[in-house]
Amino acid sequence: MTAQFEIVEPPVGALPPRARLNSTAGVLSLDGTWQFAWSPTAETGKDPADPGRTWDTLPVPSHWQLHGYGSPAYTNVRFPFPIDPPYVPQDNPTGEYRRIVRRPADWRGGRVLLRFDGVDSWFQVWVNGAPVGRASGSRLTVEFDVTAHLTGGDDVLAVRVHQWSFGSYVEDQDQWWLSGIFRSVALLHRPEGGIDDLYVVAGGDGSLSVTAPVPVRFTRPDDVQPWSAEKPALYRLLVSTDAETVSLDVGFRTVTVDGDRLLLNGKPLVFRGVNRHDIDARTGRAVSRARMEHDVALMKEHNINAVRTSHYPPDPYFLSLCDRYGLYVIDECDIETHGFGLVGWRGNPSDDPAWGPVYLDRMRRMVERDKNAPSVVMWSLGNEAGWGRNLATNAAWTSSRDATRPIHYEADEECESVSVYSRMYPTYDKLEAIGRGAEPALADPERDRRRRGLPMIMCEYGHAMGNGPGGLADYEAIIDAYPRLAGGFIWEWADHALLSDGSYRYGGDFGELVHDGSFVVDGLLFPDRTPSPGLTELAAIITPVRLRFDGDDLLIENRWSFTTTAEVVFASAAGEVLDVPPIEPLTSYRLSDAPPSVTATLGGKVLARAQRPPALGAPARSGASGRERLGGVVISQPSREQHGDAGVDDAGREPFGDAGIDAGGRGGAAAGRSIPRPDRLGPFPLASVALDAWRAPTENDRFPGWDGKVSMEEQWRAAGLDRLIAAPARGRYQPAGLDSGFEIDYRWSIRDDGLRLDVDIERLGEWRLSLPRLGIALALRTPDPSSVVFSWLGLGPGESYPDSRAGVWFGEHSMTVGEAQTPYVVPQENGNRSEVSRMSLAAPAGTLHIAGDSPFDVAVRPWSTAALESARHADELVEDDVLWVHLAAGVTGLGSASCGPAVRPSGQYRAARAQLGFVFTTS
Ligand code: GAL
Repeated sequence: MTAQFEIVEPPVGALPPRARLNSTAGVLSLDGTWQFAWSPTAETGKDPADPGRTWDTLPVPSHWQLHGYGSPAYTNVRFPFPIDPPYVPQDNPTGEYRRIVRRPADWRGGRVLLRFDGVDSWFQVWVNGAPVGRASGSRLTVEFDVTAHLTGGDDVLAVRVHQWSFGSYVEDQDQWWLSGIFRSVALLHRPEGGIDDLYVVAGGDGSLSVTAPVPVRFTRPDDVQPWSAEKPALYRLLVSTDAETVSLDVGFRTVTVDGDRLLLNGKPLVFRGVNRHDIDARTGRAVSRARMEHDVALMKEHNINAVRTSHYPPDPYFLSLCDRYGLYVIDECDIETHGFGLVGWRGNPSDDPAWGPVYLDRMRRMVERDKNAPSVVMWSLGNEAGWGRNLATNAAWTSSRDATRPIHYEADEECESVSVYSRMYPTYDKLEAIGRGAEPALADPERDRRRRGLPMIMCEYGHAMGNGPGGLADYEAIIDAYPRLAGGFIWEWADHALLSDGSYRYGGDFGELVHDGSFVVDGLLFPDRTPSPGLTELAAIITPVRLRFDGDDLLIENRWSFTTTAEVVFASAAGEVLDVPPIEPLTSYRLSDAPPSVTATLGGKVLARAQRPPALGAPARSGASGRERLGGVVISQPSREQHGDAGVDDAGREPFGDAGIDAGGRGGAAAGRSIPRPDRLGPFPLASVALDAWRAPTENDRFPGWDGKVSMEEQWRAAGLDRLIAAPARGRYQPAGLDSGFEIDYRWSIRDDGLRLDVDIERLGEWRLSLPRLGIALALRTPDPSSVVFSWLGLGPGESYPDSRAGVWFGEHSMTVGEAQTPYVVPQENGNRSEVSRMSLAAPAGTLHIAGDSPFDVAVRPWSTAALESARHADELVEDDVLWVHLAAGVTGLGSASCGPAVRPSGQYRAARAQLGFVFTTS
């Protein structure tokens, strides 16, 4: 028998959707502790009239899976149940919620509404056992009129929520499956003669129109300034009848599509945005207001100017923050049917007329609720729901209801119904072609002409999974070059890992049969909301005030559309304020003979930094004063035991740090007495020295990317880089079964300025592939390696890679080894510092200084590459008593191949030979 939650229908017994308004009329929050009973199937055996006094309790809002009932489950595209719409499995976890409500005595006359802002996925409501209504649309508001049900005394409010319903087929977003009443619930008083709805249109020219279902009074604000993300000017509008006053924060702005340009108040609107899901590591999609505000503040701090509410409307409070702080929003409807794509879109609800009313209802609920938010500059029909008539109908309805906002939907590839052309993760070439209006033609010339004439956005790009994304600067350069390109939205704002038993968990960690692993952990923020290096990189790239050296001149570009640089302070490294006149929006200024290092700050926040290129690669100052030369330390031929102590060697290889000392010549140490490999480097016993041409693959390394067939990881493994075998007599490292590999010469020598190591590495055989890195790894024994203080002169303070180094700068940096690790949820290559000319490692026993002949890459770690590679969760990484120092002539970049293009050739390390020279001193 078909269950009610398998009937494809819009909410039953619900009121028509309307605007979210602040009102003088009464509001009673029903958030808090509810009685709760959970059942693994839909047949709960509970009576809706039963107040459940003896049941468990559950907080509202929350997800029951995060309170011990059932478990979270993660799938990206695949449905976790058989595709047989609108039917769902027999095992349909169900929550029974109860709460005693009482109509406040001072709510005289009028009606009382019961409002739900988010219930996942289908629910039914009763008061005192009498049915009130039923609804789905997990991330959409729904209201019921309960006036006739309330007695004025204690009334039993019952809500039965099913995890699975017909609605699940159109809510297949890439996220955790989490259920329950996860947004607020409230009772609202609606006085007789009140203002149930309002539609306010406020244009950038100061025009204002207010439409209400009843005659209303309001005062038009005077002397208004336009609203933009740069200057979010809001004006409180009070709209009254005798019965009620509602208030709205109005922002005056006009969004237009003018040919192939997207404009706000007549100026270019370029999204420097992120995709944001509701997510909190402790509470799932039940996100507190404080968390939302913290996120919005972090976005602003990182120069982000736009949010796509992927892939459903957010809590309305989030939009009020965007209005207030200044963020452009693409408000997206709660529709995604991606799993049908895996069966050739057979049976896709998007094109099934039976689902038409459900689709339209979802769109109406979003548009009506959010229509007055100035931050909302575009409506999105949904995400990855294929194409079909129901979406076309939604677009048509939306443009007739609200002609003031363009319509977005990425999968309307021919732009039949949308007002902007949208793509996700285009390769650089494709984006560039679209910028030029030279994208491949559509079969239908008329449609082709129209699409080619529209502005284009990337609704998703820069997949921030694990270490990455690399290559963002290249995207930005293309966006800058073509006015048709209205920017894009990084995928995505925050990791979705869930905190459980003190550890961040992802797909598969909750025993799911079908899951998509760590694909849910792909944000610019770590689950604890710490910014990742990717966010620092993004902030530097999308900075509104860009600084670039051109010889001795500094080019200052004002990329704001509405703001001059009058309030920006440009200063030299010495703190001298530079004389720069206010630069008009969207114009540049050339400052001649600029100091070599300039910072642009606004209100104390650094907007941009520039250093004249010679700062990079500055010659190393080896043997700095105050240091003893390392000749003072004990140098002896390692004993057999020490040599055989390979337990610490990376990947279990036999080290042979002293091989090649007699090879002569190629090491290149000009003068000095050759010595065997020392058994100490300053305060640290030297456990091993080995060739290092491997890294713990990043998640981007694991995928081929759009433009490749084989991932870098696979290529590297096929070449045996992860399983090199040392042959000391030959000075070689080669994998089993292959004749390719590396030849390495080490030459240790004592010179006046310290202990010197020359390393010469050559590739053997015909190699075309990139290398993760090429250099050596030193294993230094020390108790508590994480607390060793790592200082360096080079790019920092954060990590950097060839295609991700906009957010770092050249200088002296210092932190502990522990702090130098980037805690990706899935352990992987991290922490590389580039363009390093000298560094030191300070332990209680003393300090080791390492100066390079030429700039090098370095990563210092309290665990080996092998340990980093085998750990699946950050808390599995435990330090031992070895400090691993990875010194490299070069490393390969990051790319964003987990969903997008691979590392570009310019970011790949491909040298055939590497020569490294270091001088070690101690103090
Ligand atoms: C997109 C999708 C997002 C996310 C991303 C990969 O196709 O719209 O929701 O799944 O891929 O992380």
